[in-house]
Amino acid sequence: EYIETVKKLNEDKNVKYSILTMGCQLNENDSEKLSGMIEEMGYTRTENIEEADLIVFNTCCVRENAEDKLFGKLGEVKKIKEKRGTIIAIGGCMMQEEHIVEKLQKSYPFFDIVFGTHTLHKFPQDLYNIILNKKRIEDIINIDGEIVEGLPIKRDDKIKASVTIMYGCNNFCSYCIVPYVRGRERSRKAEDILKEVQELADKGYKEITLLGQNVNSYMRMEKVENKNEKITSFAELLYEVNKIEGIERIRFVSPHPKDFTDDVIEAIKKCDKVCKLIHLPLQSGNTKVLKEMNRKYTKEQYLNLVEKMKKEIPNVTFSTDIIVGFPGETDEEFEDTLDVVEKVNFEQVYMFIYSRRVGTPADKMENQVPEEQKHIRFNKLKMLVEHQIANKNKQYIDTKQKVLVEGKSKNNDNMLTGRTDSNKVVIFEGEDNLIGKVIDLKIVSEHMWYLKGEII
Ligand code: 5AD
Ligand code: SF4
Repeated sequence: EYIETVKKLNEDKNVKYSILTMGCQLNENDSEKLSGMIEEMGYTRTENIEEADLIVFNTCCVRENAEDKLFGKLGEVKKIKEKRGTIIAIGGCMMQEEHIVEKLQKSYPFFDIVFGTHTLHKFPQDLYNIILNKKRIEDIINIDGEIVEGLPIKRDDKIKASVTIMYGCNNFCSYCIVPYVRGRERSRKAEDILKEVQELADKGYKEITLLGQNVNSYMRMEKVENKNEKITSFAELLYEVNKIEGIERIRFVSPHPKDFTDDVIEAIKKCDKVCKLIHLPLQSGNTKVLKEMNRKYTKEQYLNLVEKMKKEIPNVTFSTDIIVGFPGETDEEFEDTLDVVEKVNFEQVYMFIYSRRVGTPADKMENQVPEEQKHIRFNKLKMLVEHQIANKNKQYIDTKQKVLVEGKSKNNDNMLTGRTDSNKVVIFEGEDNLIGKVIDLKIVSEHMWYLKGEII
């Protein structure tokens, strides 16, 4: 209803919008929904914020540097607003934090709309109110948002798409702000997910990434509440998505090691479309630190899980997230993290320096690690990871890899780019009609962040 009204208000005006997304794939997916709604309201997208009539920020608060990014950009945007009267909307995870909204009100009072993670679907209404009433809107609720289906969506890619399967998190890892800003776990109905994947397949999409803060808890709460659903676990969902014709690859992020049950391992093994690269967040390799982090597994349990999967799933590889410098972490404890990295031999490691988050238990811990120490550890880990990746890359040479061709290479128009099952970027020479197809390539050379291939 509001979409239609705003569309009428915008008629013949050639209005433009820019959207700036920070943070994880869930946020990117939310931004695609925002863009979908905004475009239906008559706006066209521009990457140049200077010419935008509407600027939307979709923020992240998982680490401090994500926050700094917003405040830096807001300074720039203030001038644009003064010049053109641009509507400024700020949404996403950061807006669920009271101290941030207070800071905005005090130091950046020129914003028009502030919206949280639970009120995304009300964006057209908020925008309508701003255009008509010019009254600043703060639309943030702190209850766990209902799941709203059927929002328009403007996807960034034509071959790969993300599909959110569950919202929120119940784990409360002691360093993490997510459970406070995204609320409790709730799962989308399988029929809605499968319908979305089917529609994507019909449109020609080839790769689906199933998204959630904790995907292997899919339907856990609904089961506890005795809701009568046909599909009641993540494993069952994988089998169903695997049946959808046209989809060639299925990925998922992120599972939690503590919930990685045998039925999920079996589903990964049996579902031919499920990629054998498993993202398995480690966070720390030390049992004491893991306990303080409230991760609910030990170093040995993590390693056993990896071993079990290596045994069960042919060609399985792993990627992970690691935090260095968690409060109280000693040099010796950090060595355990390096030890696990050596043992698992990850395909990719996303490394983070611990960042204090207001309101989390770890922020209140007294034994914070000095910044300098954190950086030393970070660099040590980075060196080990880069060494391992370089070694791994060498092992790809002369192998045959199935590659999903994603498009033209960004840096070289004559080359195409694609990814292996293990998510390695491969660049190669080929005709444009290969885009969207899975083809066999022979790997001929390796570079730190990509491989070069030849069509077989
Ligand atoms: N500091 C540093 N890294 C963090 N992460 C989550 N919270 C923090 C924090 N406070 C990392 C974790 C998580 C990833 C998405 O971000 O590794 O898996
Ligand atoms: Fe944060 Fe832990 Fe939940 Fe992941 S599982 S979102 S790290 S609280």
